[in-house]
Amino acid sequence: MSSIQDKISSGEAVVTVVGMGYVGLPLALNFAKAGLQTFGLDIDPGKVETLNRGESYIEHIDATRIAAVREGGNFEATTDFSCVEKSDAIVICVPTPLTKHHEPDLSYVVSTVESIVPHLKAGQLVSLESTTYPGTTDEELLPRIEAKGLKVGEDVYLVFSPEREDPGNPDFTNTTIPKVIGGTTPTCLEVGCALYEKVCDQVVPLSSTRAAEFTKLLENIYRSVNIGLVNEMKIVAEAMNVDIWEVIRAAATKPFGFTPFYPGPGLGGHCIPIDPFYLTWKAKEYNIHTRFIELAGEINESMPQYVVHRVSEKLNEQSKALRGSRVLIMGLAYKSNVDDVRESASFKLMDLLADQGVEVDYFDPHVSAVPPTREHARWTGQKSIEWEQDRVSSYDCVLIATAHDKYNLDETVAWCETIVDTRNVFGDREMKPGQLTKA
Ligand SMILES: NC(=O)c1ccc[n+]([C@@H]2O[C@H](COP(=O)([O-])OP(=O)(O)OC[C@H]3O[C@@H](n4cnc5c(N)ncnc54)[C@H](O)[C@@H]3O)[C@@H](O)[C@H]2O)c1
Repeated sequence: MSSIQDKISSGEAVVTVVGMGYVGLPLALNFAKAGLQTFGLDIDPGKVETLNRGESYIEHIDATRIAAVREGGNFEATTDFSCVEKSDAIVICVPTPLTKHHEPDLSYVVSTVESIVPHLKAGQLVSLESTTYPGTTDEELLPRIEAKGLKVGEDVYLVFSPEREDPGNPDFTNTTIPKVIGGTTPTCLEVGCALYEKVCDQVVPLSSTRAAEFTKLLENIYRSVNIGLVNEMKIVAEAMNVDIWEVIRAAATKPFGFTPFYPGPGLGGHCIPIDPFYLTWKAKEYNIHTRFIELAGEINESMPQYVVHRVSEKLNEQSKALRGSRVLIMGLAYKSNVDDVRESASFKLMDLLADQGVEVDYFDPHVSAVPPTREHARWTGQKSIEWEQDRVSSYDCVLIATAHDKYNLDETVAWCETIVDTRNVFGDREMKPGQLTKA
C-alpha cells in the first residue's frame, strides 16, 4: 500500500481543493468535515477572506458549514499555491467556459496546473474535476506533470473525476451522488478511489480518464438534446392548441421508456449550454460532425426569440406594441431556487425585449442586483424590484422565466392582468379569461 493511501485511511492526508466556486467549495467542506486537513485555494482574495471569516458567498451553501470547519481547525482558505507542497491530494475545480468562437477555453485549467507543478512532489495525487473533453487529462495535465520529472502512476497519481452537483436540489448532495472516476493507470485509480471514498457513499471506477471525461459530457449532452426535443415539441403543441405540460405529465405515467424533460425559455447555467460543445470541438479532430449537439443547441438558443414573440402576440391582443410597453421578468437565476445567473436565458429575454424598445425590469428573490457578466454588461447593477402591489401591477406583462418556490403566486394572479409563463408555475390554477399564456 502506498503511503498516500495509508494517510487517506488514517485521516492524516492533507487535501488542497483549487477553485472555491459552486463545485470546489462544497467539496472542500466535505473533506474538512470528514476530518482531513483541507486548504481551499483560490486566486480571488475576496472569496478567501470571506471563507476565513466563516462566511458564505453562495446562497445554498450555509455559512454554518464553513464556520464549523473553520472552528474545528480543519479548513483554511488561501491564495498561496505553496499549500500544494503540504498536501497529499490536489483537486482542481476551476472553470471551463467556451471562447467567443464557441471553442473550449482551457486557460483556467492550464494556468492552475502550471501554478501547481512547481510545488508537486512524489507521493501526491492530482484530480481534475472540471468538465472537459475526452483526452484533456492525458494531453494537458500528464505532460506538464511529467515535464517536472515525476512519472505518473509511479511517483504521482493522476485521475479525472467529474462533478455531478445539482445546486439547489434538496434530494441529492455531493456525498450521495455516485462519483465517477478514471485513472491514468490502475494505481492512480486505486489511490483516487481511496480519496473519494472518504466523502462519497459510492465511487464508480472506470478504465481510463477519457472514459470519465466522456461520461460527464454524455450526461450533459443527454440533457441538452432532450430539452431541445421538448422545446421543439412545445412549439408544435402550441400551434395545435395542445398544452405540452399536460402531454408530458401524461407521457410520464408510462412506467418504462420515457423520462420527462421540461421546456423553458432557453438553456442556462454553466454546464448544459456549454459542455456539449467541448465534445463537438474534440470530435472534429476525428472528422466527426456532432449533429445532435448542434441541432439541440440551435433549438435551445432560439427559445428566447420564441418567448419574446409570444409576449408580443399577447400584447398585440390588447392593441399594445412591444415598443413602449413595460415588462417584468420574474426570475433572473437560470434555474429554480438558486442565485446563479450564469448563462441565464433571462438575460437574453431582457436583451431582446430592450432592443425592441421595451422597458424591462426583473424580480428575483434570490438575486438582489445583477452581478457583472461578460456578455450582458448593460444590466450590471440593475436591482430586482420590490414585491409590492402598486409596482407589480403597473406592468403591461409579467414574464415568468424561472420557477422559484419563493414567489407569491396568489398575489401574482391577483395583481397581474397579463402573464406569460414559460415554466408552468400556475399549473391548472383558475385564472381570469385571457390572463395567462404559456410559452
Ligand atoms: N456549477 C455547477 O453546477 C457544476 C456542476 C458540475 C460541473 N461543473 C464544472 O466544475 C467546474 C467549476 O465550476 P464552478 O461552477 O465551480 O465554477 P465557479 O466559477 O463557481 O468557481 C471557479 C472558481 O475557480 C477560481 N479560479 C479560477 N482560476 C483559478 C486558478 N487559476 N487558480 C485558483 N482558482 C481559480 C475562481 O476564482 C472561482 O472561485 C467547471 O468545469 C464546471 O463546468 C460545475
